[in-house]
Amino acid sequence: MRRILILNPKGGCGKSTIATNLASYYASQGMPVHLVDFDAQGSSMDWLAARPAEAPAIQGLFADEETFLAPHTKGVMIMDAPAGVHGKRLKRYVKLAQTLLIPVLPSPIDMRATAKYVEELLLVGRVNKERTRVAVLANRVREHTLVYQSLERFLQQLQIPFVAHLRDSQNYIRAAEQGAGIFELPPSQVEADLEQWQHLLDWLASEQSMPLKGRKN
Ligand SMILES: Nc1ncnc2c1ncn2[C@@H]1O[C@H](COP(=O)(O)OP(=O)(O)OP(=O)(O)O)[C@@H](O)[C@H]1O
Ligand SMILES: [Mg+2]
Repeated sequence: MRRILILNPKGGCGKSTIATNLASYYASQGMPVHLVDFDAQGSSMDWLAARPAEAPAIQGLFADEETFLAPHTKGVMIMDAPAGVHGKRLKRYVKLAQTLLIPVLPSPIDMRATAKYVEELLLVGRVNKERTRVAVLANRVREHTLVYQSLERFLQQLQIPFVAHLRDSQNYIRAAEQGAGIFELPPSQVEADLEQWQHLLDWLASEQSMPLKGRKN
């Protein structure tokens, strides 16, 4: 099973938004999808509860990273972590996934926190290419702002790939209200967002996002 975890040191950077949209994308492609919510806040499970019965199915579960065992089934598992997971807990989270996605907001506070977190992931989490791949993405971007330009420079300097930027858009709010992803809104309404997601989806479909041990050849 393909295992993707969304995590970040800061609250409110878009972990649940990215997790639920990814889940809806894979479900809309006909893949079996598990959406795992590790956050007691339950945003991903609330989203799933609002999802219409006729929408492509997503299997949801609340879990605790200490006791969680990934199901041995086909498909994809999207995991939504709580904010600020450090130390031993971080180590356990890292072991659960093949691919870690770190969303970052265009804000100096978030950038500094992310720089430290990436360091912690490499040292404490012992992330290495054999077992885990990590990427960052910018979220809630307003492209022609100075703070976004500085975020872009910052993300390019990190030692891990910067795979996508997602604009700040009401489409995410509208989709979330309905238990849907932007992939399930009318295409003419989300054209600009779909284009931005394609970079992330292409990276996730590529070997670059798979640890060396998980690759087929
Ligand atoms: N690209 C975006 N455009 C507009 N709004 C967004 C975008 N991404 C996230 N949001 C909004 O920002 C808020 C925080 O997002 P979200 O809940 O996904 O963050 P989180 O990292 O999961 O937060 P927490 O750490 O509390 O779990 C939500 O109201 C969400 O709808
Ligand atoms: Mg969340």
